[in-house]
Amino acid sequence: MPDAVGFAPGRINLIGEHTDYNDGLVLPVALKLGVTVTARERDDNTVRIVTDADVAPREVSYTIGREARDRSWADRVRGVTDELGVRGEYVAGFDARITSTLPLGAGLGSSAALAVAVVRALRDLFDLLLSEGEIVSIAHGAETGRFVGARSGLLDQLASVHGRRDAALLIDLRDLSTQLVELPTTFELAVIDSGVRHEHATGDYNTRRAECEEAARHLGIVSLRELEDRDLDAALDRLPSPLDRRVRHVVTENARVRQAVIALGEGDLARLGKLLDGSHRSLRDDYEVSTPELDRLADVGRDEGALGARLVGGGFGGSVLALARRGEAKDLAERVLRRYDGGRLIAVVP
Ligand code: GLA
Repeated sequence: MPDAVGFAPGRINLIGEHTDYNDGLVLPVALKLGVTVTARERDDNTVRIVTDADVAPREVSYTIGREARDRSWADRVRGVTDELGVRGEYVAGFDARITSTLPLGAGLGSSAALAVAVVRALRDLFDLLLSEGEIVSIAHGAETGRFVGARSGLLDQLASVHGRRDAALLIDLRDLSTQLVELPTTFELAVIDSGVRHEHATGDYNTRRAECEEAARHLGIVSLRELEDRDLDAALDRLPSPLDRRVRHVVTENARVRQAVIALGEGDLARLGKLLDGSHRSLRDDYEVSTPELDRLADVGRDEGALGARLVGGGFGGSVLALARRGEAKDLAERVLRRYDGGRLIAVVP
């Protein structure tokens, strides 16, 4: 029996943060870095997984149909086999090896990449007929279901499955429509890890999502996207603090995504940089998901000549994007890292 191999990439999101679960707009680019799962069928119902990634535990085993949470990374794999079981897809036991070139917990979509890579490997191993859309929703179910419990949106799974490395993908979460947005030839980004890890499942991320839902209830709308065509100030006046600031972030961030698409089309990097800076400010002051380390990295980045810089992903740790001209991102990152301890250049995009 040959091994089945599933690969899934991580992502950056150029702009459009915390908009996905508000029926909003996102603009991801897939990374070359990702997670690879190599799986081989067993003749019992045992799952054995080993990984070389920097996580604990390095080895896990459990029984299909008797998945029980241990609050480690392996819950995402359990989430996948549980989700497949619920959908009536037959999977037996398997041995799997997981390797990752993507740092975990760095705001680059590693959780979704792990789940998507597992689904892809199991699809091939057990001849499951799964569409790309089903892969997205099984991986998303593994993250949001009873094993992990992060109430995340669809950005990371959609980006991992449909994202491109050489172009950005504008996704409208209202109807899941997509549009490819070419990256100008002058465009380059450094992705710099702050070294501070985040854990979405435990807390603040879910709190932000709950705040958005509460604000929508308060305003009598289904999702914050409906505010796009309304008088924003009038809506904000009706909201208690901090819901008003949360809503202001989401609505202005959607507008920044639209403007970023225009700036990319015109090759206007200066304008794009200002939008990234605006996004960071809004995430820091209105949405309150930044950290002193992310703020410092972004500030040092601008000081060292980045055209714009912002935290990427959910926040509370993770990485920063620093916009540069083509050929200059690596040097920029090196200058930044001389002034920031514990960080590291993860990737240059594209
Ligand atoms: C995390 C979540 C995504 C998205 C981003 C913020 O990466 O998994 O669904 O909400 O945060 O944009």
